[in-house]
Amino acid sequence: MVAAVEAAAEQVVAQLREDCATPAARLDGVAAAMEEEMRAGLREEGGSKIKMIVSYVDNLPNGSEEGLFYALDLGGTNFRVLRVQLAGKDKRVVKRDSREVSIPPHLMSGSAAELFGFIASAVAKYVADEGVNRALNGKQRELGFTFSFPVRQTSITSGTLIKWTKAFAVDDAVGEDVVAELQMAMEKEGVDMRVAALINDTVGTLAAGSYNDEDAVIGVILGTGSNAAYVEKASDIPKLEGELPKSGKMVINTEWGNFSSSCLPITEYDQALDEESLNPGEQIFEKLISGLYLGEIVRRVLLKIATQCSIFGDVSRTKLTTHFNLRTPDISAMHHDETPDLRIVAEKLAGHLKIANTTLETRKMVVEICDIVTRRSARLAAAGIVGIMRKIGRATPGNNSRTVIAIDGGLFEHYAKFRQCLESTLAELLGEEASKSVSVKLTKDGSGLGAALIAAAHSQYAK
Ligand code: GLC
Repeated sequence: MVAAVEAAAEQVVAQLREDCATPAARLDGVAAAMEEEMRAGLREEGGSKIKMIVSYVDNLPNGSEEGLFYALDLGGTNFRVLRVQLAGKDKRVVKRDSREVSIPPHLMSGSAAELFGFIASAVAKYVADEGVNRALNGKQRELGFTFSFPVRQTSITSGTLIKWTKAFAVDDAVGEDVVAELQMAMEKEGVDMRVAALINDTVGTLAAGSYNDEDAVIGVILGTGSNAAYVEKASDIPKLEGELPKSGKMVINTEWGNFSSSCLPITEYDQALDEESLNPGEQIFEKLISGLYLGEIVRRVLLKIATQCSIFGDVSRTKLTTHFNLRTPDISAMHHDETPDLRIVAEKLAGHLKIANTTLETRKMVVEICDIVTRRSARLAAAGIVGIMRKIGRATPGNNSRTVIAIDGGLFEHYAKFRQCLESTLAELLGEEASKSVSVKLTKDGSGLGAALIAAAHSQYAK
């Protein structure tokens, strides 16, 4: 009897393994499709599912940026207000101070006025606590606004929200200029602060990456959501209107989270997750790879097993049916469990899902499920990066330019097996020789430092 129960579970896992498989040939197809979609998105507005947003950042920081700047980072369940002192070329010292505020869940699906009002009031408190800031020398405060959602930018200081992603659904903000909303809310709170730059977190990460290493040309976020930005030749962007920038370059925010292709390994769990999500049919790539979803995919697999056999006991006594009950940090903890009896797996199953008394075999199976889901994610992310590298000629044989990829986000930073898999997959796809000139760097706080650097470049006081 026991053997039959386990066979049913093993069958579910075997199917998952097969459906999530990402052999090199498949990843090659993903990279090729990504490159193709990128070209289509650059050609004309709406040319592809991936928006290829012109960021209006045509120069990356070079280290000469100087002065006191503020940054506001909105993109997840918390937002942060920061103050960054940039000390200029020779000193390069950066002093930072920040405050993190969690966004009450009801504001994530309320009205724009409430959300921006809440943010502005936190900015007002932060500034009030600071008192008179002599470092400002009587100048108006200036802010880099990192808003990590798809925005159609019309300049470095304006952009309308195309749609929400991740867990946000503030409907009346869609189509509105998010800088105007923030500026208005800050005025209401009596904060005299000018938004000097509106950027995406990937653009901030790329900026911070290039501040530290001038060879950084790609910025990637692997966190709650996933996305990438990179430096494109302005002449390769047919949809770019007006005069080409003097630098000849333009940072593009790809919004690759919305990529989808028949090459992607999509399972029944992904389909159900998508259908029941806040944004069905959208952000398909993101739903396969980012931190908001990995734990949820694993939960769905465990639920399926529980309905096929009794190794988790009576489903109704567990919390297996509660959406998002297993988070990515939990599956990371289980995946890295090195105790001989998989004690951490047992604790997580008991704590989050109310599954008790599992056998060691069952716990091993849970680890394998985490492994399958996370490896697929890391390998697909690597294929996406290779797609960008191909687009800018960095993955072609004979190319010797050093390529630095700046990456930020909790998934990359804290999930060691994810990170190792991403790095080894990059080497596998690029080949040993080409991968020698590629380096992946954890670049923390692009949305703080990066935003301040770009605000400095667009300061009203800039020389
Ligand atoms: C989502 C957003 C994107 C952001 C990413 C990472 O994909 O649409 O703008 O960069 O999450 O935060």
